[in-house]
Amino acid sequence: MSSAAAIGAGKAVCVTGASGYIASWLVKLLLARGYTVRATVRDTDDPKKTLHLHALDGAKDRLHLFKASLLEEGSFDAAIAGSECVFHTASPFYHNVKDPKAELLDPAVEGTLNVLRSCKKASIKRVVVTSSMAAVAYNEKPRTPDVVVDETWFSHPELCEKNQQWYVLSKTLAEDAAWKFSKDNGFEMVTINPAMVIGPLLQPTLNTSAEVILKLINGSSSTYPNFSFGWINVKDVALAHILAYEVPSANGRYCMVERVAHHSEILKIIHELYPNLPVPDKCADDGPFVPTYQVSKDKIRSLGLQLIPLETSIKETIESLKEKGFLSL
Ligand SMILES: NC(=O)c1ccc[n+]([C@@H]2O[C@H](COP(=O)([O-])OP(=O)(O)OC[C@H]3O[C@@H](n4cnc5c(N)ncnc54)[C@H](OP(=O)(O)O)[C@@H]3O)[C@@H](O)[C@H]2O)c1
Repeated sequence: MSSAAAIGAGKAVCVTGASGYIASWLVKLLLARGYTVRATVRDTDDPKKTLHLHALDGAKDRLHLFKASLLEEGSFDAAIAGSECVFHTASPFYHNVKDPKAELLDPAVEGTLNVLRSCKKASIKRVVVTSSMAAVAYNEKPRTPDVVVDETWFSHPELCEKNQQWYVLSKTLAEDAAWKFSKDNGFEMVTINPAMVIGPLLQPTLNTSAEVILKLINGSSSTYPNFSFGWINVKDVALAHILAYEVPSANGRYCMVERVAHHSEILKIIHELYPNLPVPDKCADDGPFVPTYQVSKDKIRSLGLQLIPLETSIKETIESLKEKGFLSL
């Protein structure tokens, strides 16, 4: 066994929502470090949700799948019992919702509390929760190129609700509820707060953040949206979760943004990498470009992470979208 694999040997950890984009990478890296992974999925009989996990190195001996659903009280008990750490990633991430409460808010908030109650029952010492920059950056403060967003920022639920940013609201309320629960119940919690996550897909289905890049390159639109987002590689996000457990001093929240870039800049990078790819050259509105801002890397670097550059992440995403058949180039 290599030295990386030795780190987790003999230790069992739990990953919720394991078939998802970020969680699949987390399971892969945990198995590579020698951990036994107790992974929850909603449907253990759906090959689209499980085959790519069973195919991972080490899965045959050290991956155990459990069926669990966020709104089913106690359904995470079996997977969590016997784990040294729980990585809670499961949460719905999509934008086209009809009933925000039922589809996003309840699974995010009540689902997180359901998982944390199971952690409490099992006396889990440290829980790592996948939060989001959505829970950090959406408040009344201006975001302009001179502004540095950091872990002291919190999104304001009233503003998210007023703007009908339901996914942003779901992550803001879920993180807040999780902090209250962990403080009241005395276990250690760390949150990882990534921005838009891109990079290679392990799962066969298209996830919401990879779709953002796909929509820019598949000819589906003649314009690009007037948005500025932070971007981060999925491999960095997965590793950050693991370091948040393995590094004893890890604490609080960790913002994860390699770079904030406007969609026009993303398209410039894509054009440099793939000059023959027809990409939109007009912005969807005539207003000034939504400004970029900065996000502090100090805290995430303190875990020992060097973030993969945006250009590499974009290239890896496009190559993966091609390989998975979402794009014919
Ligand atoms: N991707 C990003 O840009 C990004 C950025 C910041 C934070 N995050 C957070 O990262 C986490 C994973 O997101 P992702 O991008 O990997 O998305 P994803 O691929 O859609 O994964 C979401 C996971 O949550 C599970 N889930 C959703 N509703 C559930 C329910 N009611 N019961 C049980 N499981 C449920 C899904 O299970 P099924 O497969 O059965 O649907 C899936 O495994 C989420 O907490 C998300 O908010 C993502």
